[in-house]
Amino acid sequence: MANHKTRLAVFCSGTGSNFQSLYHALKERNIPAEFTLCLSNRPECGAFSFADQHAIPTVHLSEKQFDTHGAFAAAMLKALDEHAVEYILLAGYLRKVPESVVNAYAGKTLNIHPALLPKFGGPGMYGINVHKAVLEAGEKESGATVHFVDPEYDKGPVLLQHKVPVKPGDTPESLASRVLDCEHQLYPDALELLIRGTEL
Ligand code: GRF
Repeated sequence: MANHKTRLAVFCSGTGSNFQSLYHALKERNIPAEFTLCLSNRPECGAFSFADQHAIPTVHLSEKQFDTHGAFAAAMLKALDEHAVEYILLAGYLRKVPESVVNAYAGKTLNIHPALLPKFGGPGMYGINVHKAVLEAGEKESGATVHFVDPEYDKGPVLLQHKVPVKPGDTPESLASRVLDCEHQLYPDALELLIRGTEL
């Protein structure tokens, strides 16, 4: 379809700096896609402020609002349907996506993880924990991974990965900051690859 823009949802729980880098990359790189939904389990998150400033619809969904997991999953699917979402980008979303949603968007959901998967992934491996584990293991390099989401945490096929060095004297915080800078380049590259379907 001429001029069709691929409709994207972003799921966030926190600052949303990856969401911001994705949003700006769409404009700067002229990628034919747009954010039509920002979903979060935390309505006070930075991602919602950014979405509001840019007139992107927001939906607050938390499992606590529902009596059953099934009702929560159904509400998520309804929100995605109502905003005609084609692809989901997880960007610092600190909850497991319900399996029915993962299945409905199989091959159409990406996540960014702040380490070189398959190392340092899985339950409990989020935020600063990841960087602590990398330093404790004495790794010489870390990085970021964009992968397709499947029902197992951090296990889906890798789309793109980029490495950064671990430097002498690094703290979990200094390593996190270097990896986050790398994420802000990597996630837009992965999105462009997904939308244009070609190697960069
Ligand atoms: C990033 O490090 C991302 O890899 C991880 O959570 C962090 C989110 O940061 N999943 P932000 O909310 O995008 O600033």
